[in-house]
Amino acid sequence: MFNKIETAAAFIKNKIEGSPEIGLILGSGLGVLADEIENPITIPYHDIPEFPVSTVEGHAGQLVIGQLSGKKVVAMQGRFHFYEGYSMEKVTFPVRVMKLLGVKQLIVTNAAGSVNESFAPGDLMLITDHINFMGTNPLIGPNEDRFGPRFPDMSEAYNKDLRAKAKKIASSLGMDIKEGVYVGNSGPTYETPAEVKMARILGGDAVGMSTVPEVIVARHSDMKVLGISCITNMAAGILDQPLSHEEVIETTEKVKSSFLEFVKQIVKDI
Ligand code: HPA
Repeated sequence: MFNKIETAAAFIKNKIEGSPEIGLILGSGLGVLADEIENPITIPYHDIPEFPVSTVEGHAGQLVIGQLSGKKVVAMQGRFHFYEGYSMEKVTFPVRVMKLLGVKQLIVTNAAGSVNESFAPGDLMLITDHINFMGTNPLIGPNEDRFGPRFPDMSEAYNKDLRAKAKKIASSLGMDIKEGVYVGNSGPTYETPAEVKMARILGGDAVGMSTVPEVIVARHSDMKVLGISCITNMAAGILDQPLSHEEVIETTEKVKSSFLEFVKQIVKDI
């Protein structure tokens, strides 16, 4: 696996100048942020040797490398989901490629359903911690010592300093930012109302189908992580209405401009 990651990273390094310090993983409907990158070098996933290829609607499937707010960044426009059938190794492959490219700080974004009844669709939530309910862990298997230890510490998965900076930026932008615990489920079904109730009892504030694997792998190799959930809907059972992917995409459309402003300011200040 290490060789494959090196092969992919070497291919990318060959196409770019310098090394990106900040990585961005852009969730459903949030890929537009990559369009803001200046002097972009765009590499479709299918051009990168050993890289998985993405399929889901609303995901472009390319790396965009360039400058954002004056910083060198690499953005994933479209991620790989476990529910698509990719192995955990494939889901997290790009994070390890980012590590080899020199990324020190990773900003992970997603669309999520709100378990917390005081949140509303359109809110942005800084992830303070997560609960892994995906039924597996991307680090299962032989440990790759070149990335990190066998038993990685997860006591500060979402970096405190980055969160504090993000909170400051949110208040300077007049945003009412939320904070909470992200519960990662495998999907592709949305949760049942009973599962949402369970998530709430266990301390969850939002539910989604991504992020947890990438963050585990990022922390394994000691990258600093900032996680941002875009609350796109109230989770199942809170409102008397069914959930749909259309609703998720519609809400991300609505928050696009404040999301862009927020993340660009974060990239500038970290
Ligand atoms: N559940 C799981 N994933 C999601 C949701 C949800 O309610 N909304 C957006 N992604």
